[in-house]
Amino acid sequence: MPEKLKIMVLDDEPEITKGLKRMLFKEGYEVIEVNDPMKVEEYLLYTNLSLLVTDFNMPGLDGLGVLDIVKKTKPELPVIFLTGVLDLETAVEATRSGAAEYLTKPVNTQKLVAAVKKHVLVDEAIPEDVAELIKKQKVLDEDDEAADPDKIVLEDEIISTETIPKGFVELRFEDILPGQMISFALYIQIFNKRTKRFSLRKVCQENTVFTTGLRNILAKRNLASAYIHEKDYRAYLEYITALKSSPHFNIERVTNQKKLVLYGKAVEAVTEILNKPVENKSITSAIGLVDHMFQTMVDDPVTYNDLFKLFQRDDTIFSHSANVCLLSVSFGIYLGLDPKRVKVLGLGTLFHDLGMNRVDRKILEKRRPLTEPEWREIKLHPERGYAILKSSVIVPLSSLKIVLEHHEKDDGTGYPRGIAGEKINMMAKICRLVDKFDSMTTDKPYRKGFLAPEALKRIYWEESDETMKKVVLKFIQFLGGQ
Ligand SMILES: [Fe+2]
Ligand SMILES: [Fe+2]
Repeated sequence: MPEKLKIMVLDDEPEITKGLKRMLFKEGYEVIEVNDPMKVEEYLLYTNLSLLVTDFNMPGLDGLGVLDIVKKTKPELPVIFLTGVLDLETAVEATRSGAAEYLTKPVNTQKLVAAVKKHVLVDEAIPEDVAELIKKQKVLDEDDEAADPDKIVLEDEIISTETIPKGFVELRFEDILPGQMISFALYIQIFNKRTKRFSLRKVCQENTVFTTGLRNILAKRNLASAYIHEKDYRAYLEYITALKSSPHFNIERVTNQKKLVLYGKAVEAVTEILNKPVENKSITSAIGLVDHMFQTMVDDPVTYNDLFKLFQRDDTIFSHSANVCLLSVSFGIYLGLDPKRVKVLGLGTLFHDLGMNRVDRKILEKRRPLTEPEWREIKLHPERGYAILKSSVIVPLSSLKIVLEHHEKDDGTGYPRGIAGEKINMMAKICRLVDKFDSMTTDKPYRKGFLAPEALKRIYWEESDETMKKVVLKFIQFLGGQ
């Protein structure tokens, strides 16, 4: 059965929300009643709403305040205002600033239902291949959470590798790439201390993905080998032959140490350049760092899971910049961009939010939605960062463009200049995509980070430009390790 569309009705008077609920429930909607406007943001973040019907005059936060929260949290959500006759003027103004419609109180059922039907968001189906990719990404996200060694071995059991069970072949875990489907079942051998008996436990079914979570569980137990049925040996050989020709094969054999050092250096570079006046010396070392990063990634391609483990998710501009830079460089390599352009992208993304260092910390750490003047202050950061870096002759112009244009949108609604389409630098568009992804998946003082699949879904649907939609799909493929 398809899920019912969810509508939130917001009014400080419970009688009114109850009445509205009755009207809309009859029409087949799931209705969430809220009487405290301060809770709106939480619902917007954690509930998949298709419409909001709200009173205009409420204590604490009025209709315009609610609209403001919607714009920042879920801008596509239609909002219908219910107003008293006296508020009409403000309601008209609200409609101008983005509300879908207003109705006067007392609410006429027919008018409300008609307005709801007209504006309610009907979830468009996601194209199948995107759905598949997102599903795959979900597996990656979830399997790491499930990494619990106790799920594999019980208290009075130990893993035994003393003997090879009869009819089985031993193989090494390092020859199995996490995140890939395997066509044979994997077993480990268990010794039960109480019964003193050996037994085999299936840890991965045939034709399922050998997950990173499982690999971590086994690694925690220092387990080097597993067993497969002799009958599956041929399938294993085919798997290993195919894998050896894959560019990802080396990933598990090399240590992540090198990348961890690079990541730390990226954080350091941003910290230095943000905290001190910009000097050519620090920019030269940042350029060297990006060169080095590029070479390391080319020699040793990384998957999103590898990168993700390196990332700090602490919402500071330092780690955010390093995340966006590292992810952009490896995405650039994945796209097959010319090395020069990847390096330009690396430098631009490393410093894309440089201008934020002039923004008042109180604004950056604020837990409540920002006011208009605070937003204006934030929106100055691309130009400020550009101005800081422009004085350096060694920053390539294309990297400067990334800093300046990373909040411009294809439909012209971005900032600072509101330029559109092809006028926006392509590398800046890639920066915007990766930037958005990193921001959405990171916890903020005012909301929890989205899981990667949810973030990707939103990014995909919010993208208005066809070419960029394709780039987002590529990005999803890249994150899915394809
Ligand atoms: Fe930014
Ligand atoms: Fe950013």
